[in-house]
Amino acid sequence: MNSYSIKELLNKQPVGDTVEINGWVKTFRSNRFIALNDGSTIHNLQCVVDFENFDDNLLKQISTGAALKILGTLVESQGRGQSVEIQATDVFVHGTADAETYPIQPKKHSLEFLREKAHLRVRTNTFSAVMRVRSALSFAIHSYFQQNGFYYMHAPVVTGSDAEGAGEMFRVTTLDIKNPPLSDNGEVDYTQDFFGKETNLTVSGQLEAETYAMGLGKVYTFGPTFRAENSNTSRHLAEFWMIEPEMAFYDLDANMDLSEDFIKWILQYVLDNCLDDLEFLEKRLLDEEKSKPQNERSEMALIEKLKFVVDNNFKRVSYTEAIDILKNSKPNKKKKFQFPVNEWGVDLQSEHERFLVEKHFKCPVILFDYPAKIKAFYMRLNEDKKTVRAMDVLFPGIGEIAGGSQREERLEVLQQKIKELDIDEKELWWYLDLRRFGTAVHSGFGLGLERLVQFSTGMGNIRDVIPYPRTPQNAEF
Ligand code: 4AD
Ligand code: MG
Repeated sequence: MNSYSIKELLNKQPVGDTVEINGWVKTFRSNRFIALNDGSTIHNLQCVVDFENFDDNLLKQISTGAALKILGTLVESQGRGQSVEIQATDVFVHGTADAETYPIQPKKHSLEFLREKAHLRVRTNTFSAVMRVRSALSFAIHSYFQQNGFYYMHAPVVTGSDAEGAGEMFRVTTLDIKNPPLSDNGEVDYTQDFFGKETNLTVSGQLEAETYAMGLGKVYTFGPTFRAENSNTSRHLAEFWMIEPEMAFYDLDANMDLSEDFIKWILQYVLDNCLDDLEFLEKRLLDEEKSKPQNERSEMALIEKLKFVVDNNFKRVSYTEAIDILKNSKPNKKKKFQFPVNEWGVDLQSEHERFLVEKHFKCPVILFDYPAKIKAFYMRLNEDKKTVRAMDVLFPGIGEIAGGSQREERLEVLQQKIKELDIDEKELWWYLDLRRFGTAVHSGFGLGLERLVQFSTGMGNIRDVIPYPRTPQNAEF
């Protein structure tokens, strides 16, 4: 007798064999048919149980959510909707699920409702599919880099630096916040804190990754990242997972090439390995879109959209060109943008990015050479002294999915910039050392895993693509 996952069983279809499976009841109908799911696949396995052959008590214990072990013979199915089913000879109840109180019933639940039941929502078709895709994407990311000569580098989670200079950090301290030690000038004395200095959760592993790229050549980080930005949007989390490749001897063009090749490769991986889940998610999305007005529906179904991205070149456009397009665009002229685009130098908002991608170019876009003033200190200054070698990868429905740059490798230029921004040079002594000892052209970018999962699954809200979302006022579970 063989114990199988449902996925293995459906692949192998050993008709006539006695098999054993374990899983949770999805539906139970006609006091006879149990649809069991074990999470290995979106598909359920139908188990036919003749309850008259079993103890009277058994029937009462079978309801949606109960965990069962079922033994029986795998037979070709008589009914429609499945090719094989199990004719049960033995049913063991691991645990019942009270139908009155079990929240995940076989009906449509709203995503908002399920967010409050985040510990149980992975038992729904939608969340199990999303989380399998998330897992596959993560594996694909490692595979891509490992096959292309990159080393996986673990950047520290606790750090003293604010890599992005945006000041959106979560403090890490063991000081008594009600009664912290004070120094003579009345300020909190962090020399008495655990690390002897102010520390925070990392907002990016980039600076540390740069140090490793300048020794290992090509590295990537892939880890949790924290931002205390108070933005309650469908694209922001306070804790998210970021992938940051960093490459010595890469200029911005090589960086753009890599980002495009990388994203296409991992999306192709998901198309090749998660088709069942994508088909389910595509259907779900089509249903959801029926309730939207025509002009808000997406022009492509999910799988078509993924294939489109894989098969077409990303359009590369300079910030300056993009501003011209936006300035002269219909929504700008008709004052439809919440943030009007009047002049060169303004930061682009999500509405602008999405206009460029969804309406103007109708394909993924890489914007490059942004004004220095709106980008981080470490980006390489162009000859014009106004722009930096930055790049943002913009995706339909998402906006910015990845952002990166060629790094400033010239010591004096970097020192000058640090001074202008009033950053404490002493804090960055080790970062500046890279420019003192064997400096070289180098580049990298950061990709937000959750935004990639959103794109791959069509989920509209970032809270629905991570097991336990951390957002302002919310850290349940
Ligand atoms: O554009 P960001 O802030 O870039 C950096 O952190 C650089 N250090 C990356 C690098 O060059 N190594 O963030 C990179 C990506 C964004 O494009 C976005 O996909 C994601 O990280 N991201 C977030 N995802 C979810 N919630 C947030 N609050 C995010 N902030 C950034
Ligand atoms: Mg960015």
